[in-house]
Amino acid sequence: MFAKNGVTPDCVECHFLTDGFGVSMFSIEQHMETPFPLEGAHQATPCFECHMKDGKTWTFRNIGATCTDCHDNVHGDDFVENGSTDCKRCHVADDWFPKLFDHDLTEFPLVGEHVTVDCRECHKVADDGKVPSFKIERFACADCHK
Ligand code: HEC
Ligand code: HEC
Ligand code: HEC
Ligand code: HEC
Ligand code: HEC
Ligand code: HEC
Repeated sequence: MFAKNGVTPDCVECHFLTDGFGVSMFSIEQHMETPFPLEGAHQATPCFECHMKDGKTWTFRNIGATCTDCHDNVHGDDFVENGSTDCKRCHVADDWFPKLFDHDLTEFPLVGEHVTVDCRECHKVADDGKVPSFKIERFACADCHK
């Protein structure tokens, strides 16, 4: 898995002779150089959660590096554009609050009192606790206010 140009690196590039194979010195800094830099919550995620998905075998290649390889799309068809949903339009790997999403670019910019209203007052969470649909079809004042 680690071979480059057909040459397998020396095991001591990653393993100490004294500590056995259960640990490696492959660091977060080195991980930053891979096709998948570890950011935010991923830095605090144990290696095996991504590299031993079956609970048995370490795998370091082709484990999938797009968000949906490891996370469910909880939004269904809500944010599909050109056939797929780009999670990175709204999310970074800190937590699931959509940091990159700018409400002011929708047809309903949040202004005045609405700025301080909790998201969930307009985007109501269903009884089953699932993420709400963020599609609101009608949004004239009288659709929400008497
Ligand atoms: C690019 C870094 C890297 C190189 C080079 C490397 N390993 Fe590993 N190896 C790891 C990582 C990462 C783990 C997972 C253990 C950990 O980091 O917690 C691991 C785990 C292992 C394990 C433990 C497997 C288990 O099920 O517990 C063995 C055995 C092992 N390596 C053998 C080798 C041998 C033999 C070589 C040389 C041919 C080698 N490794 C080269 C990174 C490397
Ligand atoms: C959030 C998921 C995630 C976590 C946590 C994670 N990795 Fe990775 N890692 C990846 C992905 C994705 C790749 C890229 C795999 C590919 O190229 O197909 C990768 C690549 C690697 C590689 C291959 C580097 C190379 O040169 O090919 C090694 C070694 C590695 N990770 C070790 C680790 C170790 C050690 C830890 C814990 C300190 C860790 N990873 C934590 C997702 C993760
Ligand atoms: C190789 C697998 C893998 C990939 C690819 C991946 N993640 Fe993760 N991610 C994990 C694992 C494992 C965790 C820790 C367990 C969990 O919270 O699901 C995690 C945790 C998170 C968390 C923290 C969740 C919480 O409850 O605090 C966020 C946010 C996150 N990932 C976002 C992303 C985004 C955005 C992408 C795409 C840019 C992405 N992830 C790609 C495996 C992955
Ligand atoms: C248009 C913006 C947008 C896009 C694109 C988007 N999300 Fe979200 N996502 C949100 C919002 C808004 C929330 C609700 C945040 C909250 O309740 O704090 C959320 C919440 C989540 C949650 C947390 C669910 C829970 O139960 O708390 C997950 C997991 C998630 N998104 C995954 C994804 C994944 C995976 C993708 C890509 C397939 C994606 N999202 C794309 C806006 C987006
Ligand atoms: C006062 C009511 C209100 C509040 C508060 C509110 N929204 Fe909205 N939101 C709307 C309306 C109305 C739309 C529909 C606009 C449209 O379809 O263009 C919308 C649309 C959205 C969309 C969908 C955009 C898309 O691309 O389809 C997301 C995601 C979203 N809001 C997230 C949030 C988040 C996150 C918060 C909290 C920071 C929030 N909203 C607070 C009323 C609100
Ligand atoms: C998608 C639903 C929605 C739409 C559309 C909407 N609002 Fe609101 N608005 C809310 C919610 C939820 C609150 C916070 C709860 C409350 O005060 O009723 C709020 C709060 C307010 C407040 C503060 C109320 C107070 O007592 O301080 C004003 C003023 C307001 N909205 C005016 C408007 C006007 C004017 C429009 C049309 C331009 C509008 N809203 C459209 C949902 C909506």
